[in-house]
Amino acid sequence: MYLDRLKLDGRRALVTGGASGIGLACVEALAELGAHVVIADLSEAAIERARAAMGNKGYACDGRIMDVTDSGRVTEVADELGAIDILVNNAGIARSETPAEEVADEHWLNVIDVNLNGTFWCARAFGRHMLVAGRGSVVNVGSMSGFIVNRPQAQSYYNASKAAVHQLTRSLAAEWADRGVRVNAVAPTYIRTPLNEFADKQGEMYRRWIDSTPMGRLGEVEEVASVVAFLASDAASLMTGSIVLADGGYTCW
Ligand code: NAI
Repeated sequence: MYLDRLKLDGRRALVTGGASGIGLACVEALAELGAHVVIADLSEAAIERARAAMGNKGYACDGRIMDVTDSGRVTEVADELGAIDILVNNAGIARSETPAEEVADEHWLNVIDVNLNGTFWCARAFGRHMLVAGRGSVVNVGSMSGFIVNRPQAQSYYNASKAAVHQLTRSLAAEWADRGVRVNAVAPTYIRTPLNEFADKQGEMYRRWIDSTPMGRLGEVEEVASVVAFLASDAASLMTGSIVLADGGYTCW
């Protein structure tokens, strides 16, 4: 019974930003549990690389070029695919290390556009079809940065965008709870991906990250993907509006 509730056989899923990092791990996790997954990302080349990598592991994935900031394109893909079962809103950018007083309009708007607006456009477009079908699970990738202020790097725009993603998660969850659509989020600590390659691994910033983490290490993409897969599955059927921390204990201190 419990294993069956984790299985995703016959489910259709789409992962934004699915061509690399945490997104690609989510694609693999959902596919391994039985789902048919669409990889949505910015470039054909990146999508094809990801599809080939999944193909080598025995998973046939589809791909769609979809910039999550383009609400017209997001709606077009959602209308083409109809009622999918699982949407993972993973696409996000950090652009970390700019003090608030030096942040340009373009910088602020860019981060909010991808992380917050993109999450909303996708949830709205795919959610409409899920609501008609009366079933669906949306998993947003938030961040521990939506709860705490990271140190030592300055990244007010990122922290604000992720706090907004968390509150959007709860708001959509409350609106859709009695219509069969669950909306949850995972809030990871620092994960080893290209997104935070800006931190020199031998440097002071990296040392402070590790020193601030009770587990004393970064997370791996698989450790986020497994939470996403759980939230997407029927094993999490009572969960909606939850923001699940996967932070190695970071927020305990
Ligand atoms: P990544 O940079 O490795 O991958 C992000 C993917 O999103 C890339 O494939 C990129 O092409 C795609 N993408 C970027 N903008 C897009 C857009 N406008 N439309 C569609 N796709 C777009 O990043 P990573 O680390 O895998 O991050 C994934 C998510 O996890 C983000 O939302 C990030 O904020 C969040 N996160 C990451 C953490 C980390 O330490 N790496 C920690 C906490 C949260």
